[in-house]
Amino acid sequence: MNLQMTLNYHIPVLLEETKKALDIQLGGRYIDCTVGTGGHSSAILEAISPGGQLLGLDADPEALTVARERLKAYKNSVILVNKNFVHLEEICRKYNFRPVNGILFDLGLSSLQLDESERGFSFRTDGPLDMRFSPLQKITASDIVNNYSPAELSRIITDYGEDYRAQHIAYGIIRERPVKSTRQLAEIIEHITGSTGGRIHPATKTFQALRIAVNEELTNLENTLKQTTNLLGYGGRLVVISYHSLEDRIVKNFLRRESRNCICPPFVIECTCGHVASFKIINKEIITPTAEEVYLNPRSRSAKMRIAQRIYNEN
Ligand SMILES: C[S@@+](CC[C@H](N)C(=O)[O-])C[C@H]1O[C@@H](n2cnc3c(N)ncnc32)[C@H](O)[C@@H]1O
Repeated sequence: MNLQMTLNYHIPVLLEETKKALDIQLGGRYIDCTVGTGGHSSAILEAISPGGQLLGLDADPEALTVARERLKAYKNSVILVNKNFVHLEEICRKYNFRPVNGILFDLGLSSLQLDESERGFSFRTDGPLDMRFSPLQKITASDIVNNYSPAELSRIITDYGEDYRAQHIAYGIIRERPVKSTRQLAEIIEHITGSTGGRIHPATKTFQALRIAVNEELTNLENTLKQTTNLLGYGGRLVVISYHSLEDRIVKNFLRRESRNCICPPFVIECTCGHVASFKIINKEIITPTAEEVYLNPRSRSAKMRIAQRIYNEN
């Protein structure tokens, strides 16, 4: 990877909206769970300095190499950790980094990862079927494509790709094993579906499904959102930018549940759950990029932002 070439790679999505959503305080303490190439982190550091601190995580060591270089002017105010955000609470304990004023998740993958064919995320270029955020992860997309049973493969494409042709695609893939590259996989799907493009390429959903499965994206998100409650100080902000409906549903359900004082089933007359709200939802309507942002950065088009505030609850 040429570091110089990658410095401008990922354009941070909803940047102004994120700064506002985090309600950034001068001298405050923030966590960026998905540092990527450091676009959001750099804006946060600029706004909290002097005196502020940022803890930044990314599972991808290459992304952190770029971010470290980009954020070097703030090196005394930033801690960068190459770990999966599912270990968030443990990492904060290690660095004595709590309570915090805000936590940001900008989910999915960066342009740096998408554009590097060797990472295997894109069907538009040819590369190995990898798709891991971290090289330390054991399972690659190739393991799933070449070793999983038809039922398992079909379930992954159905659950994580929401593609109604999942079974058809799964059997088509299995007939062509071994599948060695991203282009080969895309061509198999093009052949099965009888389509090579249109507005959405027929391999889009299968590639999304494989990436989610390889990186256990949905379970990691669900498990990490729960940890934010203990880390945010009262009044602190949780901001999540997601890029597909499965992620957004997890965030929406978490915030719905955690902003209610009772989560008993509707038929229960008297509350027995004892659940207390720990968040207040700040934006009733999802925040999406403006037409201008989508024009300037088409990769922002599916972004959805949700914001919540940690509240003190005496109940
Ligand atoms: C959309 S990019 C973030 C871009 C960043 N906000 C910027 O401005 O450059 C998402 C990043 O999150 C990282 N990531 C995704 N899931 C992760 C996880 N569970 N733990 C840690 N990092 C993760 C990816 O490696 C990727 O670099």
